[in-house]
Amino acid sequence: MKIGVVGKGGVGKTTLSALLARSLAERGRRVLAVDTDSNPNLGLSLGLDPAATEALPTVPRSIIVGTRGDLTVGELMADYAAATPSGVTVMSALRVTEAAAGCTCGGHATVRSLLGEALDTETDDTIVDMEAGIEHLSRSGGTLAHADVLVLVMEPSLKAVITARRTIALARELGIGAWVGAGNKVSDDQRDLLARLCADHDVPLDVVVPASQQVVDSDRTGIPLERAQATSVWSAVESLTDRVLETASVPAPR
Ligand SMILES: Nc1ncnc2c1ncn2[C@@H]1O[C@H](COP(=O)(O)OP(=O)(O)O)[C@@H](O)[C@H]1O
Ligand SMILES: [Mg+2]
Repeated sequence: MKIGVVGKGGVGKTTLSALLARSLAERGRRVLAVDTDSNPNLGLSLGLDPAATEALPTVPRSIIVGTRGDLTVGELMADYAAATPSGVTVMSALRVTEAAAGCTCGGHATVRSLLGEALDTETDDTIVDMEAGIEHLSRSGGTLAHADVLVLVMEPSLKAVITARRTIALARELGIGAWVGAGNKVSDDQRDLLARLCADHDVPLDVVVPASQQVVDSDRTGIPLERAQATSVWSAVESLTDRVLETASVPAPR
């Protein structure tokens, strides 16, 4: 499966990308998690220490992946991906390593070409933790054009839900046929609000991940969320994983 995790800034894309990746890996699947944030933190969420996260190589901009491109998928992963303690393999695609190094379009083209390849010799699931916003769907060709399914992450706010609605419209244009709506950081008293916002704006709400102090603490300390902690978060993540697997296995109406 090729999964794009998308949404407004700060809604929990990196958090849910890491938890979803861990859940898939714990089900025995080979998982590649691609960080496209220019300020990458996904490695930390997957259990790498800060030094190892800093030391992750960055895929050079404008590398085109494929047998007729610059590197095959196997070569790309051998050179630029790293194993993490969680069992998930991580790769940093768009890190900004120099000030004033120019735009990240070349990096987006690299991720697009990667997703366009058959990845199943190297990985069962590729999760792309997207940088905030919707530009990656409108950028020429669409970075996520070859995704099988999008996870639309929403906190309980009008702006988050409207971002998801705009994302769905762009996904349809790109021919991406499947998406899963994931509420995140939802306290009990905000569940109804989020459900109503989603209903009003025609956005599915498939899974609700609760707001959790343990998630905040895990982010603060850099210690990945244990299974025994925040059991309500983990049970929502397992539902998300089930839902993503179900949704992606249905042939997409193109
Ligand atoms: N379920 C949750 N409960 C409480 N805080 C959360 C939850 N999910 C994410 N957060 C917090 O929200 C902030 C933004 O999360 P992050 O995953 O970095 O968002 P994004 O990648 O969308 O910018 C972080 O401080 C994180 O700890
Ligand atoms: Mg992020």
